[in-house]
Amino acid sequence: MKALRGRLFHLCGSSALDPKPEWIDDGLLVINDEGCIEQIGQAAALLPSLPAGCMVQDHRPYWILPGFIDVHTHFVQLGMVASYGESLLTWLERYTFPEEEKFVSAEISREVSHYFLRALLSHGVTTASVYGSVHKVSCETLFAEAENLNLRLLAGKTLMNRNAPDSLISHDANGKDLEATQALVERWHGRGRLGYSLTPRFAPTSSDDQMRWVGEMYQASMARGSSEPPLFLQSHLAENLQECQWVAELYPDAASYCQVYDRFHHLGSGAIFGHCIHLNDEDRGIMASRGASVAFCPSSNLFLGSGLFDLDAAVLAGLKVGLGTDIGAGTSMSMFKTMLNAYQVCKLRGQTLSPEAAFFLATLGGAQALRLDPYVGNFQRGKEADLQVLNPSAIALLDRRLQSARTKSEELFALLALGDERCLVAAYVLGQKRV
Ligand code: GUN
Ligand code: ZN
Repeated sequence: MKALRGRLFHLCGSSALDPKPEWIDDGLLVINDEGCIEQIGQAAALLPSLPAGCMVQDHRPYWILPGFIDVHTHFVQLGMVASYGESLLTWLERYTFPEEEKFVSAEISREVSHYFLRALLSHGVTTASVYGSVHKVSCETLFAEAENLNLRLLAGKTLMNRNAPDSLISHDANGKDLEATQALVERWHGRGRLGYSLTPRFAPTSSDDQMRWVGEMYQASMARGSSEPPLFLQSHLAENLQECQWVAELYPDAASYCQVYDRFHHLGSGAIFGHCIHLNDEDRGIMASRGASVAFCPSSNLFLGSGLFDLDAAVLAGLKVGLGTDIGAGTSMSMFKTMLNAYQVCKLRGQTLSPEAAFFLATLGGAQALRLDPYVGNFQRGKEADLQVLNPSAIALLDRRLQSARTKSEELFALLALGDERCLVAAYVLGQKRV
């Protein structure tokens, strides 16, 4: 058993509409030998009851927050982040596909997996939902590295069998993709803290056959009940108007892009769709009724000029929403930058995003969107102790601004707007210090 002392902040609400912030200025987190939260409270109240020999790590005056959760990112796009001046479809063709082709090499894949997961931790991100390339090896190396670090991580091999370069398509009907996916699921899904996410890239690059077996595998895993954890699913939806037009041409009989996924039974709990910018109320209602979630990726949406996500409409429709960096269309691995971009997108839509709601999206909201909230997202008793220790004074301007903050909410907003990974003092994974 061990305990961490510092200024605790986490969210306990059910949605971004009601984030329920909790602050404990001189707080103590007691962590058991399994790496889970045993107790949370005022240090003065809890210290006397700690068992003899319990190590107390004193992080005062630093802040202790739950680790961030990045609900949508592509580790195989790290090498082409910040590729200039395109919109989605030409960006995919010119930069993304050629970069992802490199992951045919196990050596490259291993090196990038190693770098990427350490970069997540150094940005305070302790859980992510990650896209591999079409190559099975990309997920093998990523899962193996994540297991070494004991991270709670979701990932999947991207599935594409049409409208993509030959080098990224398996040509033997569905055999290869289906078998590779099954092998990855068997090896990695539910192993330790890892989960497998079925990953059809988006409707234009999967045939009906591929869309069908993905939906069947996903639904079958949910029907099996509690003996095995159900699979996860991730894809892209309604990011860009040309993409939406393309899907309308490919599926002229579908009422909407969203309903293409619904037709193949991809919408459900633990299924998360990136972007969801160009949706209508009916689409949002269908997604919410199925339990599907949304990855709000503001940095990416601004970078590619895809549009302004309607956060209020999504939350009011009852959708679970998390925040995604969407590397490499997003330009930063920082969830601080991503929260600030989310705030800016909301402003441009005439909406508002409180700092508490932004941190909710970046922590507990992300956990809910990924169906991981029983395990991570805040400091509720019994959850896994994935957390970050932050020193806001590491940044001079932030330190100066905090001195004139009048409320905790102002402090939090200053951290959101001016903070970055330089504030990170430590990241803990399942109670163990990793950074
Ligand atoms: N839509 C289909 N594939 C991708 C991708 O790799 N990135 C983004 N941002 N959108 C996509
Ligand atoms: Zn993406």
